[in-house]
Amino acid sequence: MTTIEDSVIVDASDVWKIYQTGQLKVEALRGLNLKVKKGEMLAVMGPSGCGKTTLLNCVSGLDDVTKGKVTIEGTDLATMSDDQKAQFRARRMGFIFQAYNLLPVLTAQENVELPLLLSGVSESEAKTGARSALKMVGLEDWRTHKPAELSGGQQQRVTIARALVNKPAIVWGDEPTGNLDSENSEEIVRLLRSLNRDYGLTLVVVTHDQHVAQETDRIVLMRNGQIEKQINAAGLNHSKA
Ligand SMILES: Nc1ncnc2c1ncn2[C@@H]1O[C@H](COP(=O)(O)OP(=O)(O)O)[C@@H](O)[C@H]1O
Ligand SMILES: [Mg+2]
Repeated sequence: MTTIEDSVIVDASDVWKIYQTGQLKVEALRGLNLKVKKGEMLAVMGPSGCGKTTLLNCVSGLDDVTKGKVTIEGTDLATMSDDQKAQFRARRMGFIFQAYNLLPVLTAQENVELPLLLSGVSESEAKTGARSALKMVGLEDWRTHKPAELSGGQQQRVTIARALVNKPAIVWGDEPTGNLDSENSEEIVRLLRSLNRDYGLTLVVVTHDQHVAQETDRIVLMRNGQIEKQINAAGLNHSKA
């Protein structure tokens, strides 16, 4: 049976992140609250420097929060060791960045297999897993190509396949279309939306791109380390955070 709480994948409450470098103190997150539900596709928007990347790093367990609480799938990140967090990220989360971070000497297939092999999956299972992830992003026929032989959009599809290959509970994207021209970025937006619709993939995407934002269920607008406003699909419901 599924309860309402079960459907919350990420729950961040009163999260503060303060960077202290020498004399300089930056309050990058200032008491931020955010819940992400299973199956949701969410866009995080806001001016440069408002804390979007910091938010993503903190709620995905990549970075520690200064104050506040983050639970993912019911587990309080503060109760986990760095090692446990790293394993949790590898098993339960996928990441898509602006730069593709693909290894140039490996084929598309091998790039996608890598996270599985690193997490101890057998070679044959990794092959099957990578193949089906590449199929999900429409790159079945490009398996044996290396990144340099693929377009920007195709390379980003490979990173999406790599993010999906461990069947994550949630996928985080930081400016996933930031490096792409409008045609390629529209292709990626459509793909992300269809992965969300067809497979119920939970997605949180930091973006400047209106096209991405328009395709999501909810837009979270940030300013100065806080959520200024949340807008539900099609802008029908405006609510204060
Ligand atoms: N590792 C860091 N050390 C010190 N300050 C940082 C660090 N990372 C980010 N900041 C500062 O925190 C604020 C938020 O940055 P960031 O989360 O990268 O914003 P955004 O992704 O919205 O552009 C900025 O003022 C930035 O300079
Ligand atoms: Mg950023």
